[in-house]
Amino acid sequence: MTTDSSSTTPAAATRPSPTVVHLRAGGTSVVVATDGGRLPRIVHWGLDLGDLDDAVLADLVRSGLPDIGDSPVTYPQPVPVVPQLAEGWIGRPGLQGSSDGTRWASLFAEARYTVVLPSEHADGSATLRAEAVDAAYGLTLAIDIEVLASGLVRQRATLANAEADGAEYRLDGLELAFPVPSAATEVLDLTGRWALERVPQRRPFHVGEWVRSSRGGKPGLEHTLLLAAGEAGFGFRSGLVWAVHLAWSGNQVLAAERMPTGDRRLAAGELLLPAEVVLAAGDDYTTPWVYGSWGDGLDELAGRFHDHLRSRPSHPSSPRPTIMNTWEAVYFDHDFDTLSRLAVEAAALGIERFVIDDGWFTGRRDDTSSLGDWSVDGAVWPDGLEPLADRVRELGMDFGLWFEPEMINVDSELARAHPEWIFDAGHGIGLPSRHQHVLDLGHPEAWAHVHDQMTELVGRLGIAYIKWDHNRYLIDAGHTPTGRPGVREQTLAAYRLMAALKAEHPGLEIESCASGGGRIDLGVLEHTDRVWPSDCNDPHERLEVQRWTGLLVPPELQGTHLGAEESHTTHRVHPLDYRAEKSLWGHFGLEINLLEEPEEAKAHIGRWIAFHLEHRALLHSGRVVHADLSTPALRLEGVVAADRSEALYAFSVTERPSTWPPGRVTLPGLDPDRSYRVTLVEPGLPISHDGQPSWLSSGVTLPGRVLTALGVEAPSLDPDRSVLFRAIAL
Ligand code: DGJ
Repeated sequence: MTTDSSSTTPAAATRPSPTVVHLRAGGTSVVVATDGGRLPRIVHWGLDLGDLDDAVLADLVRSGLPDIGDSPVTYPQPVPVVPQLAEGWIGRPGLQGSSDGTRWASLFAEARYTVVLPSEHADGSATLRAEAVDAAYGLTLAIDIEVLASGLVRQRATLANAEADGAEYRLDGLELAFPVPSAATEVLDLTGRWALERVPQRRPFHVGEWVRSSRGGKPGLEHTLLLAAGEAGFGFRSGLVWAVHLAWSGNQVLAAERMPTGDRRLAAGELLLPAEVVLAAGDDYTTPWVYGSWGDGLDELAGRFHDHLRSRPSHPSSPRPTIMNTWEAVYFDHDFDTLSRLAVEAAALGIERFVIDDGWFTGRRDDTSSLGDWSVDGAVWPDGLEPLADRVRELGMDFGLWFEPEMINVDSELARAHPEWIFDAGHGIGLPSRHQHVLDLGHPEAWAHVHDQMTELVGRLGIAYIKWDHNRYLIDAGHTPTGRPGVREQTLAAYRLMAALKAEHPGLEIESCASGGGRIDLGVLEHTDRVWPSDCNDPHERLEVQRWTGLLVPPELQGTHLGAEESHTTHRVHPLDYRAEKSLWGHFGLEINLLEEPEEAKAHIGRWIAFHLEHRALLHSGRVVHADLSTPALRLEGVVAADRSEALYAFSVTERPSTWPPGRVTLPGLDPDRSYRVTLVEPGLPISHDGQPSWLSSGVTLPGRVLTALGVEAPSLDPDRSVLFRAIAL
């Protein structure tokens, strides 16, 4: 049976137990074999195949059956999204668990299917639910596969222990897999570290498993947002590529697996610590959503994530306010006079939100103490924070405050009162990291303590925005007094805390920060309105961090700040224009001490903020594009309006390229059939026109087809310099 998001015919009633299901939405087809009572098997994921009747679908499945005879493993093809050992699968298991060494080789059968067509879903998605049982083991498994209006596909599974005799089932892992075709010969994932997040790495898709795990209680700074596999040399604009992402902020695993038989799969699931999930009879466990996206090039793949995030009812709908954040401006050096003067300067430049970072709460004069004591420090703020919050609002800005709700310092009133609320796996509270430990929110009283302090402050101070930090990994997070792993419960507790604060304070916005980009995922984005991609404000690094974070996160959800001339994290020195240009492309902010900036520099910052405000609607709604340039030192990226009536691009030089002059750069994403006027726009680095192609001084008018295929000659720039091009459809 087929589902078609563009179909105008009334939806058929849901039909149980078809043999092949074709789910279609948002330009994506997913064909699922559903016969034989077996778990669902995806036989195609990607390009929309159009309307196919049942006979064609049956042949489509048959045409993909491998020609294998008896072999060491005679596996019934195709492979389910949760593959099983007992069916002959000797690859990465879908489900792992047991009851004291029994019930460890599940065999789910009697699957019943329910399909709901796009025309029956208000959101235009096409969905399938499979419900199967392992009668011998007393387990049931439900699997949901959804093709969303964005063309994203997501899957999740619910395992229930239906054992009547009361035996517990210890779950060790439940992963869901997406197949990719044999054309996917290259694997791309991301790595990194503090202040250098999201460094891409590529490798051939070899036989075996390429596994990226996060065991630190959050995805982590080194985490790969996506695990992708694609055609050799796939780029941003071309080359078929598929990727998975797990919508979860705790421990997780993403795996690319190629079997000697030829199967290639991308799988993901929560990484469960020992006995972290033990299902008593009647209990169940639901995996986080595993998202899959695909595209002809990474821009299309990322665009599906962006469209999906933008379609959520919770997606920020108000213009993203420009931010002044105090961290790199004054660090812990807080007092009313300094911060109110900073607020005056910020407001004068067009800043709309003033955020006090770390350092405002009782005893917090540096990073060695006081996490957990969420009350305003009377020694620094004798009249409380109200006078500053009021001053900020008088200046026309809203007021934001930094918290690190899941953390605790040993040197804090909270730790002295409740040392038992610090995670402890049996050897004490473990290593400090940045002098801090993790507060076990699995204690309802600990959760309530943090919640009550935060909600009181948010209400009393009229806080519009929380910068929510998370700096220590949960390396040995044993719930006290049992010592059992508490990461999963902590992740859920953090979500509950965010949700409660938002429910209690409608309109409250939250930023997910974890030493920079350590907690960026679609799970936390259910509760937050912005992510902080990196503590590095150096534009040289930011270009890459933002580009790769953008595989998942659209510009309006990425914080991008203009920092000091000498970067605080790399000590590189950059001109204001380059720093400002790189902060243009997201949710703009300043993280610079305006009290020490010369008047001329402040005026120029003001011009950049005005430019951001002028183009904000485009930047925060358009399609993000990147040119595939053959010289690695050259970068071109931009945002094209949804209706392709205009676009803004940045051309950057990051190193001294070996070929010179740089040659043409293509301007992707334009309508091939429209003409565009392309000009160099200010404020940008004033460039010398000596020896430059003449179009730079006068602009050029060319069809979109020419601009995307041939492009325009790029200016010769020094390293770490950029210019902006604007294209307007005539
Ligand atoms: C780590 C964050 O990533 C920074 O932006 C800043 O908020 C500091 N923590 C404050 O301690």
